[in-house]
Amino acid sequence: MRWTLLSLTLLCAIAAADPKSHYMIHCMGCHLKDGSGLPPEVPAFDNKLGILAASGKGREYLVAVPGASQSPIDDADLAGVLNWILTMYADQPSYQPFLESEINHYRHKPIKNPARLRHELLGATN
Ligand code: HEC
Repeated sequence: MRWTLLSLTLLCAIAAADPKSHYMIHCMGCHLKDGSGLPPEVPAFDNKLGILAASGKGREYLVAVPGASQSPIDDADLAGVLNWILTMYADQPSYQPFLESEINHYRHKPIKNPARLRHELLGATN
């Protein structure tokens, strides 16, 4: 019995550290399991993520959107989830993976109007 509890605890600890698990617990409610979201309010994850992640302003947006910046996970885990999402949905890696320090830098700068900023950043590709 004690061993069962111990293995369960270990299993939870391992699962909690995994980006996909963080996604399922903290992001999937809005972005859905396959990342298709609920456009136009919740944009579908696709290669626009790669375009955004290739510019400084775009990276700031990706970290500071409320769903990401306000999620109850620490900077390292948020970096992990964002990198996992990019690996899943963006084409060629023309971007650098997010580092914990970058998350911390952008996370506390709230965006007034995320939809408008996204539109400005993506221009005609939006
Ligand atoms: C309560 C709903 C909700 C949750 C939960 C949520 N998001 Fe979002 N997300 C949105 C909405 C809505 C947008 C569009 C921008 C905006 O209006 O905030 C968005 C946009 C994004 C974007 C930008 C995508 C693009 O193409 O513009 C990223 C990246 C993102 N979210 C990551 C996450 C991550 C990572 C999590 C979990 C840690 C998460 N979100 C949880 C609602 C949510």
